Formats: sequence, C-alpha cells, structure tokens
Amino acid sequence: MSNKASLVLTALNIVLGSFSISSAGNSSYADSNIPAIARYFGTKCRYEEVNPHLVDNILYVNKSNVEPPSPDCKAVHITAILRHGTRYPSLKYIKDMEHIYRLVLTMANGSESWLWDLKTRWKMWYNEEMDGRLVEKGREDHRHLAVRLAASFPTLISVENLRNNRFDFITSSKHRCVDSIKAFEKGLEELWKTEGSEFKHEENNELMRFFDQCRRFIQDVVNSRTALTEVDLFRSRPEMRRVQEKVADRLQVPYSNITTDLVEAAFLLCAYEFAIKTENSAWCRLFDKEDAQVLEYSSDLKQFWKRGYGHDINSKSSCSLFHDVFNRLDRVANASRLGQVTEAVAVQMGHADTLLPLLTLLGFFKDELPLNASNYALQQDRAFRVSRFMPYAANLLFVLYDCPEGLRLQALLNEKPLYFPNIQHRAPLYHTVKQAYQQLLLGCSFKQECELPSHI
Ligand SMILES: *[C@@H]1O[C@H](CO)[C@@H](O)[C@H](O)[C@H]1NC(C)=O
Ligand SMILES: *[C@@H]1O[C@H](CO)[C@@H](O)[C@H](O)[C@H]1NC(C)=O
Ligand SMILES: *[C@@H]1O[C@H](CO)[C@@H](O)[C@H](O)[C@H]1NC(C)=O
Ligand SMILES: *[C@@H]1O[C@H](CO)[C@@H](O)[C@H](O)[C@H]1NC(C)=O
Ligand SMILES: *[C@@H]1O[C@H](CO)[C@@H](O)[C@H](O)[C@H]1NC(C)=O
Ligand SMILES: *[C@@H]1O[C@H](CO)[C@@H](O)[C@H](O)[C@H]1NC(C)=O
Repeated sequence: MSNKASLVLTALNIVLGSFSISSAGNSSYADSNIPAIARYFGTKCRYEEVNPHLVDNILYVNKSNVEPPSPDCKAVHITAILRHGTRYPSLKYIKDMEHIYRLVLTMANGSESWLWDLKTRWKMWYNEEMDGRLVEKGREDHRHLAVRLAASFPTLISVENLRNNRFDFITSSKHRCVDSIKAFEKGLEELWKTEGSEFKHEENNELMRFFDQCRRFIQDVVNSRTALTEVDLFRSRPEMRRVQEKVADRLQVPYSNITTDLVEAAFLLCAYEFAIKTENSAWCRLFDKEDAQVLEYSSDLKQFWKRGYGHDINSKSSCSLFHDVFNRLDRVANASRLGQVTEAVAVQMGHADTLLPLLTLLGFFKDELPLNASNYALQQDRAFRVSRFMPYAANLLFVLYDCPEGLRLQALLNEKPLYFPNIQHRAPLYHTVKQAYQQLLLGCSFKQECELPSHI
C-alpha cells in the first residue's frame, strides 16, 4: 500500500472511531424508529433510504461500486453535482402543518394511544423563521458524504490536490446550499486535519439555479395555469379521495374537514420528523403503505411536469450546466493528454431542482409513457420514482479515467453506478458518451431555449 493511501485510511479510522461514539446505539435498518412508509417521501427521503447500509455504518463505502474500469486505468477527474442536505420545511408547508395540528387538537377524538400522543405530547415546533434552512442532520449528510467520497476516490479527493488548487467548489447562493458546501468542506478538513481557510467556494446561480433565470421556463411552467394540470387532476381522483377519507376516519373527523393540502401536510410532518430527528412520529400512523404510494405518485407527478419529462423546457433550462460539465471534461481530456490535469475535482452544490432537469436532459429515468392523472396503476413500476434517486444530499458524479485504450467516463448516482441510456458499459469510452449526446453538445443553447421574444 502506498504511503498516501495508508494515510487516508488512518485518517478514516480516526474519523470512524469518533463517529461510532456519537452514533446512537446499534441501529439497523429493521429498527422500529424507521417508519414503514419512509421509502415513499419523494424529495423528502433521507439519503439512508437510498443506501440502507449507511444506517449501520455511515461511512461505509461499497468498493465494488467505485473501483476503476480496469486496474490499468487512472482516475483523472471527478465532477460531483450535489443536492443540499436535510432541511426544514418551507414557509407554505409550515402553514398547512399548523392547520392540521390545530384540527387534530380541536376535533380528533379517537382513543388510540398515538392520537393521544399527538394531542398531548407532540408540539408544533416548526416556525416560519426555519423556512427551508439546513438542519444539523443536513450538515452531517455532507460531512459524511465528503469522507466517503474521499475514501472512494483517494487519488482525486486528496489534500495534495486541495493544496495545489486543483479543487473547485461552486454553490447556489441559497443558505441551505452554502451551509451544505461548508459542511462538505468541514468533512474533508476534519479528515485531513487541515485549516478551514484552505477551502474556498464561489457562488454561481447561473449554473446552480438556472431554473430561476430561464424566462421561458418561468412563463410556460412556473406561472402557467395549465402546465401542472395533471397534478391538479390527480388530487381530485378517487385514489386521492380515498386517502383523505382514510385519514379522516383515523382521526374521526368529518370528511369535509380533510383537504388534500392537509393530508399532504400530515404526510410531510411524518417525513420531516423522521428526516430531521430520526423519529417515527405519531403522524406516520395516519398512513398505510397504500396511502403513502398514492401521495408519492402525486409528488412524482409534480416533479415530472415541473422538473422532468412533462415539458421540454424543464430539462432544456439546464443546458448551461450540461455544457459546463462537458466543457470541463473536455479541458481535462486535453490536459490529461499532456499529463498535467489542473482541474482534478469540481464540487457543485445545488438543489433537487438542479439535478432533476439535468438527469432528464441526459435521458435517465425515462418511462415509455408519460405520468398522468389517470395512469397511477399503470405506472406502479415507473422509472421516474423520485423517492428512489433524489433524497437529501443526492449526488451525481462523473469520473473520468485515463485507460490504455483511451479516456473512459463513469457516472454514479448516490454512489452507485449509473448507466448512460443505451450504453451497456458501466464506464464507456468518453468518445462514446460524447457521441450519444452529440445533438445536445452541438445545440442545447440556454440562450435560445430560455429567451422570450421581446414585445416592445
Ligand atoms: C449489533 O447488531 C448485530 C446484528 O443484529 C449483532 O450481531 C451485534 O452483536 C450487535 N452489537 C451490539 C453492540 O449490540
Ligand atoms: C455493492 O455493490 C455491488 C454492485 O456494484 C452489489 O452487487 C452489492 O450488493 C453491493 N453491496 C452492498 C452491501 O450494498
Ligand atoms: C367525538 O366527537 C363527536 C362530536 O364532535 C362525538 O359525536 C363523538 O361521540 C366523539 N367520540 C368520542 C370517542 O369521544
Ligand atoms: C370543519 O368543517 C366545518 C364545515 O365543513 C367547518 O365549519 C369547520 O370550521 C371546520 N373545522 C376546521 C378546524 O377546519
Ligand atoms: C482540446 O484540444 C482540441 C485539439 O487540440 C481543441 O480543438 C479543443 O478546442 C480543446 N478543447 C478544450 C476545451 O480545451
Ligand atoms: C394518460 O396515460 C395513458 C397511458 O399511460 C393514456 O392512455 C391516457 O390517454 C393518458 N391520459 C391523458 C389525459 O393524456
């Protein structure tokens, strides 16, 4: 083993030691503090639901997922596009949460112990100042992710590369993203025993919040009354009404008092209590697995029409980020020919709203038929199931390898191999990937897609 590798391992063991002291007991995935419906929370899923072995060991790395395409290959670059960690709910949901809590306090009068628990022990502790901020668990998400990525790609994510300015840290300006990238840096700082001052990040909303700057997307999707029609239709479908009735029955309140907004607020309370505090709260008792799957579909429908395949502009708004990734890979490809790669690592912190359009543009998780209000049953096995791939701290990695036969590119999503559409190889030649995306590489202009004709 090389000195460098053993240093990383030693540091890792030290970190491992300190984490096992602070971790709460001998938890495993079968524990009862994990709600039975925890895998249906959509973008509110914990990262651990996507990688369950992390429940036992938060620094576990599955080596077979991150090994090079062959022993002769050398990793020369990694771009990591990350979603911020676990956060507080946003303002508009907090209001609905207050509403359902008040309704439970004043009207629900069943005698079950969980209901008693909600009425007497549980307190509404979410407030409006929390509005979307990163929570402590969210900082841990990224501190731990940084350590796992350093263990996965030790020749790239290394203190040498940091000291030689071969790192780029780029973030959305949102507080939860800035706090996430700081936590990621903190993870490396603790691992390498370096100074925090060695890390510098740059805010770039043009790249990481392109969805705010694409005027056509704002006009045709965000401000459109019809863009999310399927979502509205599903909310008045029998599947959804049945969930409302079951929740009303469990609370013993009139059906008319339980709106879809309130059902969703209660579902979110279960999700947030779990994501933030790892508690299987009494709110979770309002839903069975079927209910959760209906609510999950409702949320997938929204992501599909707002960030995914529903409208072409959703993914096209990410053209600038797409070109940014491939331009960097091209620069690295050129530099590696000369054996002097200066851009070894790019860490880019954004949102689910950043990653979903990019994954869509690249053709991942595409179903044969679009998701709509009337095909819930038909879409049981859909690929576009956000709970499975877009939890807090979701991460899309592009790793470039220099191999004897040429450069190879491997994509990973949430630390697991992600196969490019219609390419069977796990780490195809970079050239092959570029051919597959040739149309986009030649076109996909943010300016052309997003600009509106001016009417003066
Ligand atoms: C933790 O759980 C595993 C598997 O259930 C068990 O083998 C082990 O003895 C437990 N360790 C402690 C410290 O309880
Ligand atoms: C590790 O990854 C391999 C595939 O890359 C998979 O077959 C295996 O089940 C994974 N192991 C664990 C413990 O997740
Ligand atoms: C619950 O309240 C309703 C009226 O709001 C009343 O008719 C019913 O008897 C109550 N049930 C229990 C279990 O207290
Ligand atoms: C419940 O519904 C009734 C009528 O449908 C309404 O008058 C009442 O204000 C509602 N209560 C709550 C707490 O929303
Ligand atoms: C890479 O090198 C090729 C050929 O030398 C050149 O045409 C191209 O512009 C370079 N690309 C970048 C991004 O530097
Ligand atoms: C919904 O999708 C199904 C196919 O999955 C299709 O048959 C149906 O026409 C679609 N409904 C609408 C309103 O587009």
